[in-house]
Amino acid sequence: MAIFLDSSDLNEIRQLMATGVVSGITTNPLIISKENPGVDLKTHILEIVSMSKLPTSVELTTETEAEMVAEAREYTRWHPEHIVIKVPMTEVVRHDKTPVNVTCIMSFNQAYLSALAGATYVSIFSGRVRDMGYEPAKIIEQTRAALDREKLKAQIIVGSIRHIGDVNEALHAGAHIVTVPPAILRKMCWNPRTTETIREFNDAWKADRSKRKR
Ligand code: E4P
Repeated sequence: MAIFLDSSDLNEIRQLMATGVVSGITTNPLIISKENPGVDLKTHILEIVSMSKLPTSVELTTETEAEMVAEAREYTRWHPEHIVIKVPMTEVVRHDKTPVNVTCIMSFNQAYLSALAGATYVSIFSGRVRDMGYEPAKIIEQTRAALDREKLKAQIIVGSIRHIGDVNEALHAGAHIVTVPPAILRKMCWNPRTTETIREFNDAWKADRSKRKR
């Protein structure tokens, strides 16, 4: 199971890459607009790719098939090795050899059809599914079972993560990847009892060392 970072913030990416647990980056037009308003997309995405050297999902914003294919080809040209085309789930999910992350998925059917169409990743939106009153875990479990049963190559990315609990639920339900906002990844590293224990150990050590000096 892998962790991706759900962010386009260069500082956050740089810092959290240091944890050694991040193996991909996901962005979307809302994240980029919030974290990097008015940015030149090509320059910014290439900075992320050159810094992380990880699969980086870039989302299409056009809506006709011809425009989407042209936009996808443009982004792929930027960096064919690391750029993953993020295609919002519509009828237009078929594609050529380019790695595709079919996104904005809210149901098992959408995930299954995307995998059948040859998607590299199918992105299920945990928080937004829960907003509709449905259980994300059920959709993840059903999708994982179908992918394994039919030996489809797609990997499940669970996004729209709001709480650490969403990460744990996605893991236990069979997600291959969970993409987490920086704040959630930091919270996953942190535990008050851990901080307390480190404090206790270091205080004891300092006290012992200072006694030695006397
Ligand atoms: C990830 O790929 C998604 O774009 C992102 O997690 C969506 O999160 P949101 O539902 O909080 O906007």
